[in-house]
Amino acid sequence: MKPARRQRPARPALSPQIAQLRARLAEAQETLRAIRSGEVDAVVVAGQGGPQVFTLQGADHAYRALIESMNEGALTLTADKVILYANQCFARMVKCPLEQVIGGSFRRFLSAEDQATLRPLLKRAAQFGSKIQVVLRALDGSQIPAQISIRPLAKNGFSRATIGMVVTDMTESRRNEEMLRALSHRLVQVQEAERGRVALELHDHVTQLLCAVLVRSQALADRLPARDGPSKREAMKLRQMLGQTAEAVERISRNLRPSVLDALGLGAVLRQTSTEFARRTGVSLDLACVQLTARLPADAELTLYRILQEALNNVEKHARARHVAVHFTQRGPFVQLVIHDDGIGFDPDHNPPKRKGTGGLGLLTMRERASYVGGTLKVKSLRRAGTEIKVRIPLPPQLPAEPVRAP
Ligand SMILES: Nc1ncnc2c1ncn2[C@@H]1O[C@H](COP(=O)(O)OP(=O)(O)O)[C@@H](O)[C@H]1O
Ligand SMILES: [Mg+2]
Repeated sequence: MKPARRQRPARPALSPQIAQLRARLAEAQETLRAIRSGEVDAVVVAGQGGPQVFTLQGADHAYRALIESMNEGALTLTADKVILYANQCFARMVKCPLEQVIGGSFRRFLSAEDQATLRPLLKRAAQFGSKIQVVLRALDGSQIPAQISIRPLAKNGFSRATIGMVVTDMTESRRNEEMLRALSHRLVQVQEAERGRVALELHDHVTQLLCAVLVRSQALADRLPARDGPSKREAMKLRQMLGQTAEAVERISRNLRPSVLDALGLGAVLRQTSTEFARRTGVSLDLACVQLTARLPADAELTLYRILQEALNNVEKHARARHVAVHFTQRGPFVQLVIHDDGIGFDPDHNPPKRKGTGGLGLLTMRERASYVGGTLKVKSLRRAGTEIKVRIPLPPQLPAEPVRAP
């Protein structure tokens, strides 16, 4: 009871409509204040059948404090993606005042691409829960790579909320990933340069010297008289071993950096590598190789050569194959190299390194190498059904997008 009202009877009575309007205004102001201070427990959302009130039943402010102090965005949504609750962190992430976030659609913060592709995903995730990668669109137009963890909510939380979301800003971890990739790319470049240097040293010095010694040992063997049988045989054996050593050094040097790649191009080196593999291992190998009109960039050629080299290494080491097929083709704006073996296969999704710190880097390095030149690498393998490595690299713009002729 307020005595002040009774002391001013002269004031005309307010019409019921005005009183009602005042009350609603006061209510709206109070709701706004609560939203701004983050203590909102209820949200009114315009729906088809008029405004709907969503309340947080049994709201526990300890949980709210926890959620507000998180470094991730936290949201609850209705089935049609209206945001019922968002913490300050999410508002900061999308650079939008909290009072404009709450009650609006979550879709406005998704990039156009993600809006279309993620609709069915969100629907499915709302039932079973999942993690998805998206690009959020902030109010100022900036884009934020983010991971969204979605869970369907138990019905006893927000009265109508059906989806709970935790949104993690991935900007920092993407930046770190990019730095790591740049570093490993640089490492590969340094390794290639070093391999080239060692190959040259081996070729220019060790192989040349070995060849000179080989010629001298042949001369020595020739000069020894036939009657000096044991010495002559020993000299011949020495000459033979020197020949094998020179060959081995030349092979090592070629694997380190095939001079034929620089001189004659990718086709020649693919042929040389394939022939040598078949001769050394006894595994038959078919090579089909398209002839390009112009050479690929040096790093793309080297990448394809290294991938073939590692794939054939794996066939030799692991596959127990009888036959290998290598196809180098042009597919529209890509070149494609496929290495297929009919060996024992493996499970590419479950392939832990055998011993800690050893092995298991070949496939990873192949994939990384392909990505450095803008390409992709796919591994298809099934136990007892062979393995296929398929790498695709985009052609540089100056090369025509159609193959010119097959060999
Ligand atoms: N062509 C293949 N046939 C059968 N198994 C293979 C083949 N290529 C790879 N693997 C399997 O994948 C594993 C990983 O290969 P990789 O990453 O090159 O490492 P590493 O050859 O050093 O073991 C191998 O240990 C082998 O078990
Ligand atoms: Mg390997």
